Amino acid sequence: MRIGVPCSPRTDETLVAATPDTVKKLIKLGYTVKVEKSAGKKASYPDSQYEEVGASLVDHQEAWQSDIVLTTDVPAVDSEELNSLIQPGATLIGRMAPGRNPELIEKLAEKQVIGMAMDMVPRISRAQSMDVLSSLANVAGYRAVVEGANAYGRTFGGQVTAAGKMPPARVYVIGVGVAGLAAIGTAANMGAQVFATDVRPETAEQAQSVGAKFVPVPIQQEKSADGYAKAMTEEQAQAAEKLYAEQAALSDIVITTANIPGRKAPVLLDEQAVAGMKPGSVIVDMAAATGGNCTLTRPGESYVTENGVTIIGYTDLAGRLPAQSSQLYGQNIVNLFKLLTPQKDGIYYLNLNDPIVRSITVTDQGEVLYPPPPVKVSAEAPTGGAKELTVEEKAEKARKESEAKARSKRNKLLGVGVAAILGSLLMLVTPLNLVDYFVILMLACVVGYYVITNVTHSLHTPLMSETNAISGIIMVGALVQISNPNWAVKLLAFIALTVASINVFGGFAVTHRMLSMFRKDDK
Ligand code: NAI
Repeated sequence: MRIGVPCSPRTDETLVAATPDTVKKLIKLGYTVKVEKSAGKKASYPDSQYEEVGASLVDHQEAWQSDIVLTTDVPAVDSEELNSLIQPGATLIGRMAPGRNPELIEKLAEKQVIGMAMDMVPRISRAQSMDVLSSLANVAGYRAVVEGANAYGRTFGGQVTAAGKMPPARVYVIGVGVAGLAAIGTAANMGAQVFATDVRPETAEQAQSVGAKFVPVPIQQEKSADGYAKAMTEEQAQAAEKLYAEQAALSDIVITTANIPGRKAPVLLDEQAVAGMKPGSVIVDMAAATGGNCTLTRPGESYVTENGVTIIGYTDLAGRLPAQSSQLYGQNIVNLFKLLTPQKDGIYYLNLNDPIVRSITVTDQGEVLYPPPPVKVSAEAPTGGAKELTVEEKAEKARKESEAKARSKRNKLLGVGVAAILGSLLMLVTPLNLVDYFVILMLACVVGYYVITNVTHSLHTPLMSETNAISGIIMVGALVQISNPNWAVKLLAFIALTVASINVFGGFAVTHRMLSMFRKDDK
């Protein structure tokens, strides 16, 4: 099948739906790729690079008359592209915002075009590699900090200089989704002191892990089942707005990313909150395109309010890093084609039973398929498909667990008792001059047991290196004693040597296996 990559229908768009790298991958899947001349120019991908990887350069009309058309944004309903260029039966892949563009979806159905909305990829683990919204929000979150830093008249990192102390900038991020996490990580790496808030309580840990201090909303929402926030109650909204105004007044840069899918962006900062902010401070409103999180935001603009607060409402933050955003967008499309082209034969199969394919397909055979049936997604780890238990089953489970706990406690006590008896017996037969060593050995066993069993999993690797070092010392001691004329000592030295060797060489084998997981196969 022929894939066409036309120039973006929007003249202000800098992105391209396929880069030379992603075109090469599409060709590998068996497709013929036709790129419109200068399609990648604004993203710094010259025509020659597309030709080098095997694409042919065509004009606007030919690109639109392909079997599959890849775009970043789809053209307007009354455009020439949709009215006369695109062929019936063709497939159009791009961002469509179908909830906000019902006429566009009707038009695609009427033209018998198969529409695939890349912005409808569900947030499930299997679809992560195709999720263009996350890819672009990630880049946009980074860029939001860069724009904020540019407008802010001071440095981000604190310093002590001969001329005096410079405190670090205080950055406050509201909304800890994909863009929010990217913004927190970037601001923290630039040396700022970062604070963050989200209505979903499960985001606290994520915010902390990338360097922010989490400031909870007084009345939080319940844990989210789909990774997105729900609209707040009146009481929650009031408590949250009060908190946002207080925090904004303390901050130098506020980055707002709050978003509720399919709705207008929630208002987080009103005129009063902006009036309470310091002169020189900056608001970067990432939700400017969907109504804005700040009531004073002007979409697509940056301006300074009367009290000296810069409000940035750029709606093209990802487009300000076009080469990288295009590569991510193009790779998301390649990953979709990998799913659609299992035979790698250049023909795609529309399997509407697949929840990902079903979610993004908005029109097929003249029918509107939007909205798709909901996909059960979870921000939490999957439970392995465990079914909901009844009250009796829960009680039975609790009884079994408490029995197992009691049994394990009994076994532990028994083990300690046996060890104590054996230790005392050994003490009786130990020569007097070795008693001190024996006591140290026993204490080391007890301390070692508690230290090792309480080490968290994430610290097992450093623990392994340490035990390797101890095993090395044991081996040296055992080698010295192996020539001892006393057979008992010889035997003990031999056992020590064998056990320590297992630890050392086993450690090497495990490390080797772990490293080979990260090694690229040269072939
Ligand atoms: P997301 O859905 O992953 O994250 C939004 C977060 O906001 C969620 O964690 C949600 O719990 C939180 N939230 C919702 N209501 C809230 C409230 N009242 N208070 C505090 N937190 C609240 O969305 P993502 O992908 O991170 O995108 C964020 C925003 O950035 C969206 O509005 C998106 O349209 C926009 N965006 C803007 C770009 C630009 O160029 N300006 C580019 C890419 C994304």
